[in-house]
Amino acid sequence: ATDKEIEDLLAQMSIEEKVGQMTQVTIDLILKDGTTTTIDEGKLKKAILDKNVGSILNVREHAYTVEQWHQILTAIQNVATKESRLKVPVLYGIDAIHGANYIAGSTLFPHNIGMAATRNPELVSQAAKITAIETRASGIPWNFDPVLDVGRQPLWPRFEETFGEDVHMVKTMGAAAIKGYEQDGPGQDHTVASCMKHFLGYSVPGSGKDRTPSYIPEQMLREIFLPPFKAAVEAGVSTVMINSGEVNGTPVHGSKYYLTDILRGELGFEGVAVSDWEDVIRLHTRHRVADTPKEAVRMAVEAGLDMSMVPTDYSFYDLLVELVKEGTVSEERINTSVRRILVLKKKVGLFQNAFPMPELKAQLHKPEYDQVSYQAALESITLLKNEKQVLPLSKNTKVLVAGPGANSLPALHGSWSYIWQGTDASKYPDKAKTVVAALAAKAGKGNVISSAVADYKAAANYNVAQLKKDTRQAQAIVLVLGENAYAESPGVIDDLTLDADQLALARAAKETGKAVILVLLEGRPRIVSSIEPQVDAVVLAYRPSTFGAPAIADVLYGDYNPSGVLPFTYPRYTGDILLYDHKGTERIREDVPNTYGDAGFNPQWAFGTGLSYTTFSLSDLRTDKTSFGAADKLQVSVKVRNTGNRAGKKAIDLFSHDQYASITPSVRRLRAFSKVELQPGEEREVRFTIGASDLAFVNEQGQWVTEPGAFDLLIGDLKVTVNYQEQGKASLK
Ligand code: IFM
Repeated sequence: ATDKEIEDLLAQMSIEEKVGQMTQVTIDLILKDGTTTTIDEGKLKKAILDKNVGSILNVREHAYTVEQWHQILTAIQNVATKESRLKVPVLYGIDAIHGANYIAGSTLFPHNIGMAATRNPELVSQAAKITAIETRASGIPWNFDPVLDVGRQPLWPRFEETFGEDVHMVKTMGAAAIKGYEQDGPGQDHTVASCMKHFLGYSVPGSGKDRTPSYIPEQMLREIFLPPFKAAVEAGVSTVMINSGEVNGTPVHGSKYYLTDILRGELGFEGVAVSDWEDVIRLHTRHRVADTPKEAVRMAVEAGLDMSMVPTDYSFYDLLVELVKEGTVSEERINTSVRRILVLKKKVGLFQNAFPMPELKAQLHKPEYDQVSYQAALESITLLKNEKQVLPLSKNTKVLVAGPGANSLPALHGSWSYIWQGTDASKYPDKAKTVVAALAAKAGKGNVISSAVADYKAAANYNVAQLKKDTRQAQAIVLVLGENAYAESPGVIDDLTLDADQLALARAAKETGKAVILVLLEGRPRIVSSIEPQVDAVVLAYRPSTFGAPAIADVLYGDYNPSGVLPFTYPRYTGDILLYDHKGTERIREDVPNTYGDAGFNPQWAFGTGLSYTTFSLSDLRTDKTSFGAADKLQVSVKVRNTGNRAGKKAIDLFSHDQYASITPSVRRLRAFSKVELQPGEEREVRFTIGASDLAFVNEQGQWVTEPGAFDLLIGDLKVTVNYQEQGKASLK
């Protein structure tokens, strides 16, 4: 986009001023030592006036009040827009990835993994819109979200930030989030610029450890990992953040192939590409593809990076100024990036008004935001087992609530919650309750027994002796297991199996002879196969955040009929991590019928599992045609009936199976999903429209194709077969 105002500004800028625009530093660099919110005027002036810094990010240690944010941003913009030569405002960026988690008292929404379990993209859009309103009200116009990495490596500590293992789900939910953030343009009082991240291939490190290498065949890269970014570009996303890792031996930050050929050339993305934390220098220090720091800077900029999240010094700035002055990097090249950055600043409204608007404070913390968060938590909770209808509990049942998550707010909230690691519960808003408190609020203190304390690791939460002692008065045990909060690398684990102390607790609970209800607060599937037979019910709550505990109480006591379904395959064994859309030859047992190659595929719980307190039947899966061509749309319908005696919501996943294809087809692939609410006895028809391009895959030549032949369409146990008759292509362009 050329724009006279921007071209005029660009024409006046010195090399230093241009490179400054491409430099993003962290707030630590402008804060007084030892303080969390007090700006050091000297450091601020150095950043903006000496180093021409164009962007700042982050929060030091904890969430600030909105007044503190206004003070910080006003101080920054005062220097930028009043004292700097060209008066270019600073673009502030933040990670508000499940609500405005950097503002004290803000309501947080369930992490994406739970949002995907809702099968409700409207809730994703609403949550993003509220986050945008609160972010904008704090004075910040740029949010580093949504995460569009496909969660296909359950060990990966950022799994909870993903919409799960399926590409269609990530595409759909990601586009819904972008709509919530940016609809009407990113410069409104209720919108922000969003950031699709982390481009490309970040989520499947071979080792499962964060920021370690991925090895992804090109065909899979294009079929599974690229489409969410393409959909995001189509949805109008303003910015992109780059994968910190390397794919097939190529660090993405140094790759022209990824950052220019694919991102710009194939996807047609025109916005700003920002690096992740310190990643440019890591081309030299870690990846070792650049033999000097200066070469690292040259490589990243020539690859196509626009802005470097340096973020704690001015090395990028100093080195890039040198590179341009000596002619190694052309001024034309940096003009391209600076132009994109200035266009973004204009789009978000900074040239009109760079300052926080006090009147927007009235938009913060509205009760209706809480309603959306609560609803999302309710719809996400996934009932995985309910033997002999032990749930719902009667409110008169005396319940022991035990386990490390019983009295923990961080386990409910997970990563990026008021502080980066999310582990400091003192920062959580008053309205957040623990599971113990929420159960007591609903069933009365006299019916809830617990000596669990807030400290996740404390012995009081329980050891076996304590559990046995406290169970004497109880009729049922609610055991809250899983994981404490973590973010990024501190969440690295070597084993998906739940730790030994927690497993021992579950066995001890079983030995009491009381009914045992396992509630899991976890960001990734922790293996529970050794204790699953010992418990009567399993409720997976993911990271439900602020209203997670009341939502869990509603489900346990039957005030809400659960409707969440798994957005990933829950593995049974650490050595058997198969995804639902695996290949037909993955079977490991020869003695089971193998229509879809699922024989021997034996996860703990399959993708899409989710029970209800009512029952549903599916019937009459039909299409309006038995054969179709490239120009046709297929209408697919199925009847869903509530056959039980209470109202409930049912998620409907539509899969396809390509019977024969030139690249081995997946056993099934999600093509569409929907959710329907039914009263007892009510029946409704659920309809989907799909075309040939929805059934396409990437062939050996790297092209999207739908090959002629038969496709099975599958919903639940129902199947209908249709024939595709023409050669059709759905190219990525
Ligand atoms: O946006 C994040 C990213 O997801 C992980 N590294 C740090 C960035 C900025 O905080």
